[in-house]
Amino acid sequence: MRQHLFAANWKMYKTPEESTSFIQTFKDLLPPATKAEAVLFPSTTSLPASVQAVSGTSIAIGAQTMHWLDAGAYTGETSPTMLLAVGCTHVLIGHSERRQYFNETDTTVNLKLKSALAHSLIPIVCVGEHLAEREAGRTSNVLELQVSIALEGIDPSTASPIVFAYEPVWAIGTGRTATPEIAEDAHKLIRRFIADTLGSDLAHTTRILYGGSVKPDNAGSLCCLEDVDGALVGGASLDPNSFADIVRNATC
Ligand code: PGA
Repeated sequence: MRQHLFAANWKMYKTPEESTSFIQTFKDLLPPATKAEAVLFPSTTSLPASVQAVSGTSIAIGAQTMHWLDAGAYTGETSPTMLLAVGCTHVLIGHSERRQYFNETDTTVNLKLKSALAHSLIPIVCVGEHLAEREAGRTSNVLELQVSIALEGIDPSTASPIVFAYEPVWAIGTGRTATPEIAEDAHKLIRRFIADTLGSDLAHTTRILYGGSVKPDNAGSLCCLEDVDGALVGGASLDPNSFADIVRNATC
């Protein structure tokens, strides 16, 4: 059984104080015996306060990106050892906004994924096609390339922590969501491409989240599909009530 995971991607929102205040409200809204995992991805400056605020709860904290090296002359970057030092357990890799605005490529995704595994950070690797690629019938090719390059050279014996997120770029922040059929088809493809690289046992146990305009009212229909194992939520995760509703409505 793959345990559902709900990830809140706060992007460039929330100061440390605002992050703490979210967590204080959210932790009391989570059903006490929830079977799902909840992970929050605050901005870098809010990581220490967030780690402190979730202490004693089952909520985990991750970073929205990282460099793959431990240290170096890379102005503005944050290393995996720095994330571990402040108590992060997870990291997002290759979010489409990182690919679009900060030149991340499948190759840097691969370097970051290897580094996350080497540092025992749980990686959530984001993949997904642009609208023009879907309309040109290239979704499967795009996903295959993204998954196979991300996983290149990864030893299957180290790969069990990897989580994927299918985020069709046309659905992120647009209010447009994939239909359950589109999501299930894409998740099945991604699982097949994981199997091609890592083998079918790992493909069966790897969690694949759906992301792209997930809201409390569509979370149940998108996340309770056979191959969907939770959600990566942007806009609707900024409010504790809305994110808690998503976790509640979509833990199946
Ligand atoms: P959204 O963002 O839920 O606001 O569409 C999802 C994401 O970017 O991970």
